[in-house]
Amino acid sequence: MTSNNAAKSTVSLSDAELYDWIIHERHVRKDDVKKCLAFAREEKISLAQALTRKGVLPQEQIDRISRGYQAARALNIPGYKIIGLLGAGAMAMVFKAKQTALDRIVAIKILPQKLSQNAEYLRMFKTEGRAAAKLNHPNIVQAIDVLEANGRYFFVMEYVEGHTLFDELEGGRVFKEAEALDVVLQVAEALEHAHNHGIIHRDVKPRNIMITDEGVCKLADMGLARLTQDQQGILAEKGRSIGTPYYMSPEQIVGGQVDFRVDIYGLGGTLYHLVTGRMPFPGKTEREIMEKHLREALVPPDHIRPELSNGLGEVVELMMAKVPNDRYGSVADLLVDLRAIRRGKPPILAREKLSQASLEHLAAAEGGPMFPEQPADTVAAKPAKRSSTVAVILLVILLTLSVLLNAYFIIFYSS
Ligand SMILES: Nc1ncnc2c1ncn2[C@@H]1O[C@H](COP(=O)(O)OP(=O)(O)O)[C@@H](O)[C@H]1O
Ligand SMILES: [Mg+2]
Repeated sequence: MTSNNAAKSTVSLSDAELYDWIIHERHVRKDDVKKCLAFAREEKISLAQALTRKGVLPQEQIDRISRGYQAARALNIPGYKIIGLLGAGAMAMVFKAKQTALDRIVAIKILPQKLSQNAEYLRMFKTEGRAAAKLNHPNIVQAIDVLEANGRYFFVMEYVEGHTLFDELEGGRVFKEAEALDVVLQVAEALEHAHNHGIIHRDVKPRNIMITDEGVCKLADMGLARLTQDQQGILAEKGRSIGTPYYMSPEQIVGGQVDFRVDIYGLGGTLYHLVTGRMPFPGKTEREIMEKHLREALVPPDHIRPELSNGLGEVVELMMAKVPNDRYGSVADLLVDLRAIRRGKPPILAREKLSQASLEHLAAAEGGPMFPEQPADTVAAKPAKRSSTVAVILLVILLTLSVLLNAYFIIFYSS
């Protein structure tokens, strides 16, 4: 019974704490955890032992979480008392805590020890944290404080009672168009506010969007994503996984100049996932996924789910254009189109921009490729119905011109 002993010797989370964490993180199916809980009661063993015995969670994972939790509780953060574990990603751990002076519940993200020793990283952590704390918006998880204690660094934020969009997608939910638009509109409003204050999120994805029990969406990790990317760099150097880049813009993948338009891309990928139930560019390896973001044409969401509107397809296409210049020029513009399609109207700005792009592609076809880094199929994959829209618009303009000219000549010669 070695696994039993191992579980006994290393796991010191209570069953309730472990259960909360597993359910919150959705590492395993809720049904499996419930079965393990029943098994644990029957056998009079701990939940951790039941999980490992049934092969539901590996011992190492429980150990890692348990160690982190114990260490965090021992940290003694002045002014706060850790009362629970909310999540543990590859990068950091997030705890539920009580801010004792104000008697309110908060969430605290704890920087890994290694990074607490990196001066450049800490400088950025403080600057970004302070900038994020200046933001105040109902759709942004409020940053409260960045603090240091006993050589460790903490990011204190509003505690959100709810779950992430990732949880919903993992549970197999596919959002109806209107439901997805309600979510994306809220996040876009959050982004507009952040961008107006000069802050780019850089990691907009379902895991960073929380939904409260009342259905309010809140964008998490504002101001922290740049740090995450640095951490990813460190992990990648060590050959460890950097997390799958399902929503990462092409310019981030190639390490190029990044501006607010990476957030439009990330939100586009999120919208795509919500309405189709699949990642925009699925793949088996990080490399394959990145390669697809760079070169492969997106399968339009309305081709996967025909019940989706053509307008939604156009908006997503524009949000996820490979070249930043081909995307929306601002989140304010994006909001105009999102609100239009939410009301069942066409997305005027997307249509204008897509027809302009089609004309440019036509012109480029005469004089050689415009974006040589993109394969020809990126252009060819644009749905035919969109080029016909351009033709119709051109015809209407020509007709109007000819009517105006005729009228002018009639008036001129009759007078
Ligand atoms: N402010 C918060 N309130 C409640 N839960 C949170 C909060 N921030 C993060 N969490 C939980 O902690 C988990 C881990 O967050 P994080 O460390 O940012 O990792 P990731 O973004 O990679 O999932 C999230 O998935 C979420 O469930
Ligand atoms: Mg996060």
